[in-house]
Amino acid sequence: MFENSSWITHKENKLYEPVRFTKKFNLNKGVERAILNITSLGCYYPILNGKRVGDFILAPGFTSRKRVQYQKYDITKMLKGENKLEIIVGDGWYNGKINFGVANETPKALISQLDITYTDKTKDSIVTNESWLAYKDKLRFAELYDGEIYDSNFESEETNANVIFHDKKIITEQQGVFVKEQERLKPISIFKAPNGDTILDFGQNLTGYFEFTVNAKKGDRVEFTVCEELDKYGNFYNENYRDAKARFEYICHDGINTYKPILAFWGFRYIRVDSFPCEISESNIEAIVVHSDMKRTGYIESSSKLLNKLFSNIIWGQKGNFLDIPTDCPQRDERQGWTGDATVFCKTASYNFDVETFFEKWLTDLRLDQGKKGNIPNIIPQTVCWDWSTTENTGAVWGDSATIIPYQMYLTYGNTQILKNQYDCMVKYLEYIEAHTKERYLWSGCEQFGDWLGLDSPSGSYRGSSNEDFIASVFYYNSAKIVADVSAILGKDSQKYEALADKILEKIRQTFKEYKTQTECALALYFDIARDKKTVAKKLNDMIKANGDKLKTGFVGTPYLLHALSQNGYSETAYALLLQESFPSWLYSVKQGATTIWEHWDGKNEKGEFWSKDMNSFNHYAYGSVADWIYEQACGIKPKRAGFKEVIIEPRPTDKLDYLSAIIDTRCGKIMSKWYHDGAKIKYEIETPVKATILIDGKAYNVEKGKYVF
Ligand code: BGC
Repeated sequence: MFENSSWITHKENKLYEPVRFTKKFNLNKGVERAILNITSLGCYYPILNGKRVGDFILAPGFTSRKRVQYQKYDITKMLKGENKLEIIVGDGWYNGKINFGVANETPKALISQLDITYTDKTKDSIVTNESWLAYKDKLRFAELYDGEIYDSNFESEETNANVIFHDKKIITEQQGVFVKEQERLKPISIFKAPNGDTILDFGQNLTGYFEFTVNAKKGDRVEFTVCEELDKYGNFYNENYRDAKARFEYICHDGINTYKPILAFWGFRYIRVDSFPCEISESNIEAIVVHSDMKRTGYIESSSKLLNKLFSNIIWGQKGNFLDIPTDCPQRDERQGWTGDATVFCKTASYNFDVETFFEKWLTDLRLDQGKKGNIPNIIPQTVCWDWSTTENTGAVWGDSATIIPYQMYLTYGNTQILKNQYDCMVKYLEYIEAHTKERYLWSGCEQFGDWLGLDSPSGSYRGSSNEDFIASVFYYNSAKIVADVSAILGKDSQKYEALADKILEKIRQTFKEYKTQTECALALYFDIARDKKTVAKKLNDMIKANGDKLKTGFVGTPYLLHALSQNGYSETAYALLLQESFPSWLYSVKQGATTIWEHWDGKNEKGEFWSKDMNSFNHYAYGSVADWIYEQACGIKPKRAGFKEVIIEPRPTDKLDYLSAIIDTRCGKIMSKWYHDGAKIKYEIETPVKATILIDGKAYNVEKGKYVF
């Protein structure tokens, strides 16, 4: 592919200034099939004879700089006798601010090959070269953090495209799922804020863009700025976007103007209307939700409206942050593939939606960007300026994305291929830890993120107060165990890693004799570190009770906390945390009006004041990982064999809810587990597509596929 095509660019390539490449061609024979192959350094938007080609938003997606995926589009039906192919290219993820302010030396560029097979079986190819024309586009500016500026009256000079050299070996086939427009939302209200601003409220913090239509005069302006939250007075607030301007500007032509952005996206619930040719009404505008095209597979419903809203927020958090890569957040000047966030959320993600292909693609980039010594950059894809492959720094949990995520994809979907692909990377990662730790069989003395954003952080720190070497060593142990298990699954020597895991466990037990924080106790229980689980579980339970049924955990402790409790006889305390309504808790944010998951437990206090502007996202999915506890523990659905080929269903009902139900649409079919109070009794409705062990009140029922009531 692309043997005869050249990379082309505009001779005056300017950062953030999109270029429109065009090629006219005539066809005088019948066409049987025409396939257009495209990729770019930057993001591209293809148009044939005035119509958009395909529906991949921000193609070719976001990958390691070591590769770029190309896409194929069947355009047979779009062709005419005389044709005009136009491809707009912007900087996208490739250049500039998204790389933390570093503009790349390589200009944005396009490469394309149109393969035509005629009905008489002859063939032809149209490839990018200097015969293509290059224009500066009416889209005058496009940058992912700052937004777009479009001038519908702008006319550009035409020049021939410039051919540049860039290695074509980096071009690979499309591996991920396409990012697509998913749904449209009308504003639920349009109002004047106390300070006079006109604000549109879409009722939902979402990721995507908008489409507007307006009858205007030439030179009229449409200008928007977006935000996630209003301040305590009800005014527009987006200081938490930091350096991301999150703006949109459009200059109208005479008549009807309809436009939606093509090379930018925003995370927002509100739009401030800075300028509009008329009084804006809901007939003028819609928000368009954009994310990777994943099939929805998981559903949770309960008798608690607040809990249902929490689940909806978790789903929206996933939609908003699964935009070709798993991002930390979709709004501020980050939107990066932070590995730790993906690690703690991947189980929930894999139950909510089918994310196997999504993660396979991202793990390919993780492998490509893995440092020579085995370290995993904390952001995947690696960005230009934070080049972790040379600094060799990897944080525990963040780096464990290399082991935990592929293993979870295997457990959820049952496919060993992902393990085969990832095996060498996992092994190298263990070697990296071994080479860098200060003390053998621990992971100690290295720079860590700790229990990131734990509420017990000492003042001025983000890292919680749990022992960082303990956290790192526990995850080292867990990764060694995963590698041992994966080795056995793949028929490789597992003994070496079993022995390693045993040694790490022994050393952790010798070194860390006491677990002082909620997170330390939760990890000691969940990862089978504690020898005397009963005592540790009681201690954890006591700590939570003494704290008024409230948690103090951060990114690392939170995903395991409820599991650690319910697996050790404290389900009711787990439910008390889940259903806690006052700060800090999941339902606190729901009661504060959250429509996604917040980065901080205290993103906004009861008075409506914000935690801080420097790191306060209202769409960060990490704490949404609590959903996997509801699927696996509260409703009790767990894979007994990878891929849910056989299943364990062990529901844990509570008096705190009238009913709770979960569905996971697995590769083997739909599993449902519902329990509800019926007078003094609890009834269970269970549906399984495979052999199941159902555990109710300590009794085991081994059943074949079917529907059961207990
Ligand atoms: C990101 C996090 C990330 C963290 C690690 C933050 O800025 O938003 O989610 O994991 O940095 O330090």
